[in-house]
Amino acid sequence: MNARWEDGRVTLIDFDAITEDQLRAVGATKWRRPGAIGAWIAEMDFGLAPVIREALVEQIERGQTGYATAPMVRGMQEAYAGWSPEHYGWEVDPEQVRPMPDVVAGLVFMLDHLIPAGSTVVLPTPAYMPFLTLPQLHGHEVVQVPMARDGESWVYDLDEVDAALADNAGLLVLCNPHNPIGRVLEPGEMAPLTELVEKHRVRVFSDEIHAPIVFAGHAHVPYASTSEAASRHTVTSTSASKAWNLPGLKTAQMVLTNDGDRELWAQMGDFVEHGASNPGLVANAVAYRAGEPWLDEVLGYVGETRTWFAEEVGRRLPGAFATVPEGTYLSLVDLRGVEGSERWGTAPGEYLSQHARVDLTEGSLCGAASDGWVRVNLGSTRPILSEALDRMAEALARNS
Ligand SMILES: Cc1ncc(COP(=O)(O)O)c(C=O)c1O
Repeated sequence: MNARWEDGRVTLIDFDAITEDQLRAVGATKWRRPGAIGAWIAEMDFGLAPVIREALVEQIERGQTGYATAPMVRGMQEAYAGWSPEHYGWEVDPEQVRPMPDVVAGLVFMLDHLIPAGSTVVLPTPAYMPFLTLPQLHGHEVVQVPMARDGESWVYDLDEVDAALADNAGLLVLCNPHNPIGRVLEPGEMAPLTELVEKHRVRVFSDEIHAPIVFAGHAHVPYASTSEAASRHTVTSTSASKAWNLPGLKTAQMVLTNDGDRELWAQMGDFVEHGASNPGLVANAVAYRAGEPWLDEVLGYVGETRTWFAEEVGRRLPGAFATVPEGTYLSLVDLRGVEGSERWGTAPGEYLSQHARVDLTEGSLCGAASDGWVRVNLGSTRPILSEALDRMAEALARNS
């Protein structure tokens, strides 16, 4: 729809020219509601990298629709093991990289097999919505630890994390780059967390699904790469799915850096790796091997969008404030200071869905720390986001 190869380089047809009608015709979940602008679920509106599309078409034409083969799995493992040192400075053995159907499945594995039954899950909030609810379904209560505001940013409240970990905790959930706050953690911020995790002898689930989506001036450092202790107590879960828009292909990488975890995994047998799909394995491998030029174009465009968007929020929505993500294509927008905000209280997303026909993610679903905020997906075109802002401005002004 919007990209072609020229002279060995991907050329993206002007993103600004992509229309709502074209996006609706694709039939993506994000655009499910007729008449409403979709800026909620974390999918991007920039189509598929041609190099990935070609590999998928070839796979289908060859009829590779049986069970995943060993070379397909190996291809994904080696592609990630090649990408990681170059982009994150993290050497991993391909054998440590296990195929999973999705990133959340890595969390489920930890909840079911790696932490004591009945132990709590400590979750700094705001957080990716399912993290607040999923652990309960596996017998683990979630303890939210609101992050602290530091000027326009957010930081871990280490005293509160310490107290929560002291009380029957089994797991600390980290997310980096962070959905929804858009932070890319510095190693210096991770070191005190490692100390607390070691002190309380708990484990870490590190969700790094957004790792390839980091903007200029920031670098993704995998938590497990920061020290021997972190490597030992962590399971890292990542995928090419967010950066290259592949979540429906159901493939992720769970990186097992703890020897005991790998032994347990091996004992569980091949069937535990049944969930990753053939197209997903191939698409992830191609993304890591050859998808960077396409991703660079996307990062260039979204990189400009994020500062433009924050400025426009300040200009068009008086009293509102938008975070500029350091990584991810998500911005959290604080609407508590907008005149009339008491009318929507902790449900500005619902208000805007109804009155502006703009579908966003309600901040309260990410934890009480983001009550009164909304999460906006910036993985779209600026003309579409501009229309969304106009509609929001009108609806909020009507309310005051
Ligand atoms: C931080 C984070 N983790 C996990 C997921 C879900 O990933 P998956 O579908 O691979 O489980 C998302 C999706 O948006 C996400 O943003």
